[in-house]
Amino acid sequence: MPSPEPVLETARLILRPPHAEDFEAWAAIGQDEEVMRHLGGVKSRFAAWNHFLAAVGAWHVLGFHAFSVTEKGTGRWIGRVGPLHPEGWPGDEIGWTFAREAWGKGYATEAATAAIDWAFANLAWTRIIHCIAPTNTASQAVATRLGSTLRGPGRMPAPHDQDPIEIWGQTREQWFSRRAARTTSMPSQ
Ligand SMILES: CC(C)(COP(=O)(O)OP(=O)(O)OC[C@H]1O[C@@H](n2cnc3c(N)ncnc32)[C@H](O)[C@@H]1OP(=O)(O)O)[C@@H](O)C(=O)NCCC(=O)NCCS
Repeated sequence: MPSPEPVLETARLILRPPHAEDFEAWAAIGQDEEVMRHLGGVKSRFAAWNHFLAAVGAWHVLGFHAFSVTEKGTGRWIGRVGPLHPEGWPGDEIGWTFAREAWGKGYATEAATAAIDWAFANLAWTRIIHCIAPTNTASQAVATRLGSTLRGPGRMPAPHDQDPIEIWGQTREQWFSRRAARTTSMPSQ
C-alpha cells in the first residue's frame, strides 16, 4: 500500500483503496443479478469475501488495484473502479462496477477518468485496456465516453478462458492528447 494511501476527489465522488467497512456493500452488489450479469453471475458472500481480500491484498502487494468509490453527498460506498492486473490478465486494465442505484448518473465515467489519470501518473503503463463482454452495452458506452476503442477479441486466464470478451483500450498518448484537447476547448474547467 502506498503511504499515505491515495485519495482521489472528483466533483461528486471520493476514490480510495478498499477498507473493511466496504465489505457489506461489496457483497451486496455481488448478489445482484443485474450487476453481475456480465461478470460471471452472482457471487456468494464467501466468494465476495475472497474477491474483496484479493483487492485489498493487491493494494498491499502491488500498490494499486481498483479504488472503492464513495458518494460525497452521502458517504455511501457505490462501487469500484480503477487499475488492475491479476495474474494472467490480457493487459493493464481500468475496470468499473457500480451498484445499480448508482447507474445513470455519469459516476462510472467520472470515477474512471480520475482513476486513469492516477494510473498514468503513478504506474509505468503505456496503454490501458477494458475487458468487456460483447453484449455489455453499458460498459461499452463507458469505454467510448472515455475515448477508448474496440481493439478486438481477447481471452481471460483460466478458468474464465471460455468467457467471450472483447478488448477495448487506448494508449497513454491518446488519453493525454484527448485530455489536453478538452482542457483547451473548455477554458473554464
Ligand atoms: C458499466 C456500468 C458501470 C455503467 O454505468 P453507467 O451509469 O451507465 O455509466 P456512466 O457512469 O458513464 O453514466 C452514463 C449515464 O449517466 C447519465 N447521466 C446522468 N447524469 C449525468 C451526468 N451528470 N454526467 C454524465 N452522465 C450522466 C448519462 O446520460 C448516461 O445514461 P444513458 O446510458 O442512459 O445515456 C454499470 O452498468 C455497471 O456497473 N454494470 C455492472 C457491472 C459491469 O458490467 N461492469 C463492467 C464490466 S466490463
